[in-house]
This record gives sequence, C-alpha cells and structure tokens, in this order.
Amino acid sequence: MEVASRNTARLEQELGELLERERFDPPEEFAANALVRDESLHEEAARDPEAWWAKLARELEWFTEPAQVLDASNPPFFKWFADGKLNASVNCIDRHIEAGLGGRVAYHWRGEEGEERDVTYADLHRDVQRLANVLKDRGVGPGDVVGIYLPMIPEVAVAMLACARIGAPHNVVFGGFSPEAVKERMQFSEAKALITADAARRKGKTAPVKPAVDGFLGEVPSIETVIVVRNTGADVEMKEGRDLFYDEAIEAADPECPPEELDAEHPLYILYSSGSTAKPKGILHTTGGYLTGVAWTTKYVFDLKPESDVFWCSADVGWVTGHSYIVYGPLMNGVTSVMYEGAPDYPDKDIWWELCARYGVTVFYTAPTAIRACIKWGAEYPARHDLSKLRLLGTVGEPINPKAWLWYWKVIGGGRCPIVDTWWQTETGHIMITTLPGAQFAKPGSGGRPLPGIEAAVLDENGNEVTGRQGLLALRRPWPGMLRTLYRDDERYVETYFSKFGKETYFVGDAARVDDDGYFWVIGRVDDVINVSGHRLSTAEVESAVVSHPKVAECAVIGQADEDTGQSICAFVTLEGDLEGSDELVEEIREHVAQRIGKLARPKRIVWSDDLPKTRSGKIMRRLLRDIAEGRELGDVTTLRDPDVVKRLDELVKERAREGED
Ligand code: WTA
Repeated sequence: MEVASRNTARLEQELGELLERERFDPPEEFAANALVRDESLHEEAARDPEAWWAKLARELEWFTEPAQVLDASNPPFFKWFADGKLNASVNCIDRHIEAGLGGRVAYHWRGEEGEERDVTYADLHRDVQRLANVLKDRGVGPGDVVGIYLPMIPEVAVAMLACARIGAPHNVVFGGFSPEAVKERMQFSEAKALITADAARRKGKTAPVKPAVDGFLGEVPSIETVIVVRNTGADVEMKEGRDLFYDEAIEAADPECPPEELDAEHPLYILYSSGSTAKPKGILHTTGGYLTGVAWTTKYVFDLKPESDVFWCSADVGWVTGHSYIVYGPLMNGVTSVMYEGAPDYPDKDIWWELCARYGVTVFYTAPTAIRACIKWGAEYPARHDLSKLRLLGTVGEPINPKAWLWYWKVIGGGRCPIVDTWWQTETGHIMITTLPGAQFAKPGSGGRPLPGIEAAVLDENGNEVTGRQGLLALRRPWPGMLRTLYRDDERYVETYFSKFGKETYFVGDAARVDDDGYFWVIGRVDDVINVSGHRLSTAEVESAVVSHPKVAECAVIGQADEDTGQSICAFVTLEGDLEGSDELVEEIREHVAQRIGKLARPKRIVWSDDLPKTRSGKIMRRLLRDIAEGRELGDVTTLRDPDVVKRLDELVKERAREGED
C-alpha cells in the first residue's frame, strides 16, 4: 500500500514537471523508422491539392481508374473521381488475397469471457461473399439500405463488407442505442434488411436484442429480411419467411459473389449522428473519395507497417471512428487489428493492457474519456503488463486536457511513444487535423496541423480569418472523404454546413484557435451538440426524450463540464401541474431517456425548476443555464422575459450544492 502511494506521488510530481514542457519532438528512434520524416508531403499537397488527392486515389484498386478528380460544378454538392469504378470490399479483402496474404490475421478478436478468434483475410473473403449472396437472394441490391445492429463481434465487419460488395449502403447503429433509436434510423433510411444478434453481452450479463428488435419491426414495413447472428445462443423467435440465422444462411449460400463494379460516387454508407435538432442527421459517405482519405490517413497518421504492426482502435464499430479505423482503414492497408467485445473494466480494469501485451499491440488509438477513466483507476493496472511493444498512441473524439495527455504519454507510452491527437468528425470521414508523428512535434492539448490537402482556418462571424484568438473552425477546400449530403435531406445539408460561410467553405460547428506555429486548439462545439465521453448527442434530442415523459411539462438540456466524461448532461425540468420532484422521479426520467435513446443519453443531473429562463420570443437561454449549472457569475440577463426566474434557479442550485457539501 505504502509503495503504491509513494509511486503515485512520484508520478504526480513527474507529470507536474512535464506540464511545463510545451512541445514533444518525435523520439529519435521513432522518427528514424517513420514513413514520413519531414514536411515534403505537406509541401507537395500545397502546390497542387487536386493532384495530391489524385495520386492517393490511384493507390486504390479500381475497375476503371478515374480521369476526373474534383467536380465542383454544383457546390456544395462536390464529386470526386466520378468517372472511376471500384468496390470497397475488393480494396479491403480481395487485393490482399491476390497478393498471397489470405493467411494474415485481420482481427484478433477477444470476447468478454476470454474467448479468442483469429479472423484472417481469407476468412473475411469467404464469409463476406456468402453473406453478400444471402442478401442478394433476398432481393437486396445496389442502393438498398441495410441496417446493422450488432455488438463488437467480427460479424459486424463481415456485414459491412458484404453490403459494400453488392453496393447496398449500410446503416450501422451503435449497439448502445435503444431499439427505439434503431427503429427511427431504420424508418428514416427505409432499410430493406436488418442484420442483428440474438443477444448482447456486457460485463458478464446478457441483454436480449432480437426480442427488442421484434418489438418495432411491425412499424418498419420496409424491412423484409432479418438476419440474426447467434451470439449468446439465447432462445429467440424467428418469423418464417423473414428471419434467418446468420450461420445457417451463410452455410447454405453460394460461396462466390463477384463484386459489383460501382461508381466512385456510389453511396457506401449512412451513419446517423446528432445535430442541432431532435432529428438525427443521416450522414452519407460515398465510395472512392472516402476510401482514398481513410486509406491514406490510416497508413500515415498511424505510421503503419502492415508486416509488423498490430493496430488497436478501441472505439465501437457503431461510431464513425470504428467505420474508418476498425473496418475500412486497417483492412485496406492489410493490417492486423485487435477487436474487443467488452468494456475496459471487465473482467478487470487491466483488460486493455492485458490484450495489448497478449497481441503485441504496437499502435493504440482511444478516446480522452477512456484515458481519464484509466487515470482514476490508477497506474497499477497498466503496470501489470508488458507494454513495451507500443510505439505510437492516438486520441480522438474530444479535446484532451494536457494532464491526461501526459499521463498517457508517460504511463502507457513509457515516454517512448509519440501521441497523435486526431481531430475529425463523422462528416469529414477521416482524420483532418493532427501531427504526422515522425515529422512534427506534438503539443499536449492541441491537435496539430491540417493534414496535407486539407485547408482549415479559424474565422470570425463574418468569415474573416483570425489568429491567436478563438473563432469558428472552417474547412476551406473540399476533400475527397467529406460527406456528400444528409440522406434525403439536401436542404438540411446546405443549411447546416454551407450557409454560414457560403457554398465553398464547410462550417464545422467547433470553436478553435490557431497559435503561432499554426497548431489548432479545438475548444468544443458552438452548436447545441453535447460531447459525452466522445459521443455526440444533441440537446434537442435529449430534451424531446425527457419531455415525452408524461409527468414532464418542459425541459432544457445543457452540456456541463465534467471531469470524467468531458461533458455531462444536465436537464432542467419543469413538472406538470403541482407535481413535486423526487429521487424516484429522477430515476424514472433517466430510465425513460435510456429507453428512448440509450443509456448514454441519460442526464447525469436533473434540476427541478418551476420555470425556465426564456427570451421574450420564448427561446430558452441555454447560456444562462450553463452559468447556473457550473456556478459561474450570471451573464447578461437583460433579454429575459422574467429575470427573476434565473435568479431563483441560481439560488436553488447554490443551496443544493451547499447541502451536498454538508
Ligand atoms: C469533437 C468523432 C477536439 C469535435 C471522430 C468534433 C474533437 C466532434 C477531437 C465530432 C479532437 C473530435 N480534439 N475535439 N481530437 N475529435 N472532436 O462526429 O467537437 O462523433 O466536431 O466524430 O468531436 O464527433 P464525431
């Protein structure tokens, strides 16, 4: 015990001293073997960005090589490599089989209970073709949307690639979302088939999935086929003519499925993400451009050498990070990855590090919120395992505080591994701002610089560039991996991203600052999007879930700064009539939100409020609620209809805080 606390004190001191250090140069040994060691790629791309992207596109495998590069004739509806033809699954699998690499492990999969499965590229080749044929037999063809609602099992990658093989855009929904949220996403996209599981496992428990899906299928008539992976072997009801077991279906299927030759602009997938309104946005990515950007960034940002590296992106496949850096990016590069089904603290808090040691992980990519959880658990957990194979670390999803950065660098990386802090979004498709780890120094807390071919800037409200102070992050040049539109909602696409600064400049929705070295410091969202543990949620989405509770009259949701999760959800709730708030009601509302959206959207804090601060036009002043929740001096209250509301609320919250301290 004493030794442990002495170690902790020493670590604290070392990290404290490191806080003074502003920049971290690439370690010599790392730089000596890095794919990129200087600024030449940035320079090359700056000279002729289109030629740069065209060169990268040629590294993909095409049926017809594109002659066109960027078509900007109808902004903001940009097209890339539009006359080329290709197939994503060929780029992820067939090309490696042809190169004789079928025996290489694509995924070291580890189940929650310690089961292990090595899935090779040849395994993927076999199962993807069979599943593609199952879908085809069920009448799924190019352009038909297929929903995927699966846990972190290898079948999720097979399912995505099978869709890609036949040109059916997939619509993956994160397993943590509730069936209600899945239903909505299936309805919006009019999915024709759904691939799901009997049940999911989480921390030693199982939760039924198929029965939950059955609960809404009647309301999604477009779904004609449901394919069920037997994950836990739980008993499930199967509807004759509609439902198939995955294992039986692929066993019976024709083993060969020639890939569809698809236009570069053929939709590869839809992924729903939260925006400023309650209705999630169906972000649409197409094939050629997306793959170009994802393949390149996977290789060069993570400095990957497929023969020797083992890559682990700890995200869930249900988020864009999983799409790009568990499935498409690593597979296109023929890399071996780790895929883990479970939670980072199950069976114990050292499981990640155990797996890093076991599979010889060399490059590890995770979220700041996970790092903060590890810090809380203590350095003794990683200390139990040999992490000496690690040579590069990455983060994504939210700004990382320098203290967490330094802990990651020191405790996980042993002071030997550079860290790439990668900024990007579901919309951008791939990493946009970061440091190339063998060429550029890192500054804890800053993402770094725009990658070659990317032009980022910080602008004021009028679109003028600002330096040294905070402004709005914007991307001033189209890039191949960008979203093409919001599914069936071109208008919202233009309005959300291309109305603020015109049709050529993409409005990101983040606040940022650029320093004298040209390094970007992303501060956070400027819209009503909350970032909880790196997961995007919209205030409106959570509000509408809370308000749908029969006892709730009105609600305003804000993101509140949170030590562990970056931001957490705080809901100000006005109850119906004379109802009084209680602890039971807090739990009821939280559970209600879990049912409507998913556990990740449950408010951490609920503040009962008789009235909400509103402007004279009835708009809720979220800025003031944030001030109240975080205990700051109240900002300008002059535009309020009833300034007393906010004062009463402020006093109430302060009183509660005092009670809590007693
Ligand atoms: C935030 C995740 C700071 C940002 C890939 C962005 C970040 C939103 C970083 C996108 C980072 C992501 N530093 N902030 N390195 N990475 N963000 O769509 O606010 O889930 O707009 O994509 O996360 O979240 P999304």
